[in-house]
Amino acid sequence: MAGRAAMLVNLGTVVMTVLTLASFVEGFGVNWGNIASHPLNPDIVVRMLKENKINKVKLFDADSWTMNALAGSGMEVMVGIPNNLLETLADDYGNAKDWVKENITAYMRKDGVNIKYVAVGNEPFLSAYNGSYLKTTFPALKNIHRALKEAGHTDVMKATIPQNAEVYQSANDKPSEGDFRSDVKQIMLDIVKFFHDNDLPFTVNIYPFLSLYLNQHFPVEYAFFDGNGQTIPDNGKNYDNVFDANYDTLVYALNKAGIKDMKIIVGEVGWPTDGHKYATPKLAEKFYAGLMKRLAKDVGTPLRPEKLEVYLFGLLDEDMKSILPGPFERHWGIFRYDGTPKFMLDFTGQGRKIVPVAEKGVQYLDKQCCNDEVGPDLDYACYHGDCTAMLYGSTCSNLDKIQNISYAFNMFFQIQGQDVRACDFRGSAMITKNNASVGSCLFPIQIVSGSGDFRISYVFGRFIVAGLILLGLVTAI
Ligand SMILES: *[C@@H]1O[C@H](CO)[C@@H](O)[C@H](O)[C@H]1NC(C)=O
Ligand SMILES: *[C@@H]1O[C@H](CO)[C@@H](O)[C@H](O)[C@H]1NC(C)=O
Ligand SMILES: *[C@@H]1O[C@H](CO)[C@@H](O)[C@H](O)[C@H]1NC(C)=O
Ligand SMILES: *[C@@H]1O[C@H](CO)[C@@H](O)[C@H](O)[C@H]1NC(C)=O
Repeated sequence: MAGRAAMLVNLGTVVMTVLTLASFVEGFGVNWGNIASHPLNPDIVVRMLKENKINKVKLFDADSWTMNALAGSGMEVMVGIPNNLLETLADDYGNAKDWVKENITAYMRKDGVNIKYVAVGNEPFLSAYNGSYLKTTFPALKNIHRALKEAGHTDVMKATIPQNAEVYQSANDKPSEGDFRSDVKQIMLDIVKFFHDNDLPFTVNIYPFLSLYLNQHFPVEYAFFDGNGQTIPDNGKNYDNVFDANYDTLVYALNKAGIKDMKIIVGEVGWPTDGHKYATPKLAEKFYAGLMKRLAKDVGTPLRPEKLEVYLFGLLDEDMKSILPGPFERHWGIFRYDGTPKFMLDFTGQGRKIVPVAEKGVQYLDKQCCNDEVGPDLDYACYHGDCTAMLYGSTCSNLDKIQNISYAFNMFFQIQGQDVRACDFRGSAMITKNNASVGSCLFPIQIVSGSGDFRISYVFGRFIVAGLILLGLVTAI
């Protein structure tokens, strides 16, 4: 008997192994943001997504160039509406109709774009926004939903609102005590009722990294999926990671609102690689390995043991993002700004030690850096460039004073597209062909951006502003 049982167990293991190998993560996509000084050509990005077998993307707008690159790709797309459009969409149904016509209907042709969701706003109820979008978000959502319905699109796509997990909370970190944040509770209840009545999904962004960043007593292992840390028992379930606990806090909050079965999409989840001591490629690799394995198993969370649908954040580093939330903001990419991978990640969830496929066909600017000779313009260069990798715990935090200034000068120079005027700093800087990288601190060379007119004028406009400020500095002295 015992022998047979053992054999059965072994057989079970074999079957399990085969199943695991055969499994493939289908429920995930990636966020493709574009707040970069040198955005990659969208055609190249789409090709790279396909080579990595990524079939879903989430956008933050409906940029026509990106949309046209996605046309005919079959890629499932979540199109975004930026927060600054919410007011006009809320005010006037005609504006919502126009938005849908120009940004949705135009792509609903043969070989068009496979649009599955429309994200109305992006984390509009974040407390940092001081309630700026509290009045406009829901009316905008209703107008967009109505316009999609009238245009006959609601059979294939649904509107939703990506919220930060900050819209709900729980006492003592117990998911079962979850409820919506008091200052947004009523509006959230109204929204989820509308979602329920119209079969729309709830979208939430969950960031285990931020739990760790914001709380120095946070148990590090609880941010990951390896089950090495403590387990928190709650209402008959056991939680060994903060992602599950956070997700189930939302499930409880929805349950309390009388809603049992609303579809939940995780709009963003990921790990940054620079700008903080816990933001490293090594920890990002660990986080994603755990997440992808988890997704491949299709086990869901303790309270919702069903398939998860998630969008990783994000595809590429974005060097023009606001660093108000922290210096790591510009380093969320699985790939660097130029489409080269940063760490091992098996998108299939089989846990193989493989590197994602890099972008091909990226062209770089000249291999030259801007180096400091004597100058002290660090603050200026950092303000207009990107010094997030120089801060404590980051890849370039151990440079000496001169290297520090060179790093800052070079980032400014690269972000300005290697314009010679951006490597002067009152004569204190010089363009050099030397690779000034020090250890893991890389001095990057920017790429030839796949830029449209808009982007050229944007970067050029920035340069003029920078030049004027510089002129002001010079005259002041
Ligand atoms: C369509 O989307 C783009 C990009 O987000 C936006 O700039 C434009 O205003 C939208 N069109 C309409 C008619 O609202
Ligand atoms: C929110 O309020 C704080 C403090 O009053 C202020 O510093 C910040 O700029 C405000 N943010 C927005 C988006 O209005
Ligand atoms: C280099 O710059 C960083 C960030 O501004 C600063 O913390 C560090 O002290 C600087 N190092 C030297 C040697 O000046
Ligand atoms: C500069 O050197 C580093 C190694 O220190 C290397 O990783 C990087 O690719 C080099 N950069 C260029 C532009 O060759």
